[in-house]
Amino acid sequence: MTTTLSDFAALAEAFAVHPTDTPTSPPDRAAELESPRFGTVFTDHMARITWSRTAGWNNRRVEKYGPLLLNPASAVLHYAQEIFEGLKAYRHADGSIWTFRPEANAARFQRSARRLALPELSTEDFIGALAAVVAVDRAWVPVKKDFSLYLRPFMYASESFLGVRPSETAEFLVIASPVGSYFADGVKPVSIWVAEDYHRAGNGGTGAAKCGGNYAASLLPQTEAYAQGCEQVAFLDAETTTYLEELGGMNVFVVRDDGTIETPTLTGTILEGVTRSSILQLAADRGHQVVERRIPLEELLAGVRSGTVREVFACGTAAVITPIGRLKGADFDVEVAGGSAGQLTMSLRAELTGIQTGEVEDRHGWLTQIA
Ligand code: COI
Repeated sequence: MTTTLSDFAALAEAFAVHPTDTPTSPPDRAAELESPRFGTVFTDHMARITWSRTAGWNNRRVEKYGPLLLNPASAVLHYAQEIFEGLKAYRHADGSIWTFRPEANAARFQRSARRLALPELSTEDFIGALAAVVAVDRAWVPVKKDFSLYLRPFMYASESFLGVRPSETAEFLVIASPVGSYFADGVKPVSIWVAEDYHRAGNGGTGAAKCGGNYAASLLPQTEAYAQGCEQVAFLDAETTTYLEELGGMNVFVVRDDGTIETPTLTGTILEGVTRSSILQLAADRGHQVVERRIPLEELLAGVRSGTVREVFACGTAAVITPIGRLKGADFDVEVAGGSAGQLTMSLRAELTGIQTGEVEDRHGWLTQIA
């Protein structure tokens, strides 16, 4: 689906706008936009659609951002029937606002919904909700370099029922949060703790779905990572504890000394990252050999030690591309590229963010103007 600004506007028209009666004043908004810590500042509005098995998706609206009224028996609070997405809106030099591959997020949201037995939301409703909230809160899209408006669509099971079966009702919302770097220290090489006692996902589980439960399962090992002085946790495959899978909230890439770029293959337990697939394309465009395969941890460590692995980096919508400077585990602690940011890592990051902000040609038609 190729979407134009008029399509976006038309999709957004399905949403009734109920503006807040307490909008943030321009000076307060400017202060909030100064240097927001990731995920802590929210715009004035949220988009919302309600679903029931009998009525389908209905009541498309944009309303004041604020607390939700939840019955304590709501299924999501007990059985975690919930999914989410993450994408960003970027302000270009002429003031126009763009998103990056929103159709890919809409499609993944549909796949996640199927896996979690939630209702599928059409691509039109998904994109319409993004456009509707961005149109109302466009003043919140940051102007500053390396800042953007992080959009967080999510859906949860709202039925008040304690039986274990798919909910008969659900809510879909989009909230928006101005952000800079995901990591508190900015774009600096991060340290990774490789968990060997815990796994993120197993065969036949929900690893490929973007559901809250996967992230809940990563929190205890993530705490272990912090205790080890690391910013993120990496997981190995649940079956053999041999192969690198992904980080707590990001995919991972390896750069070899012959320029080959590798990332763990999608085995059903790994999230199909939109940034991941974009990097595979950009690297192939530059003539790099790109390989999706299972990467044994031992092989990676040996490569880092011998220098045949030159760079390792993490990627995701929130993290964009973040260099990895150290890999630590129960019985190893190795620096990658002397702990500094890899050249290819940073140049791919510059190209990707350049495309997103309109400074580099969008050869693949990944951007669509949203407002
Ligand atoms: C994203 O990159 O958008 C994510 O979902 C990662 C994380 C913030 C959960």
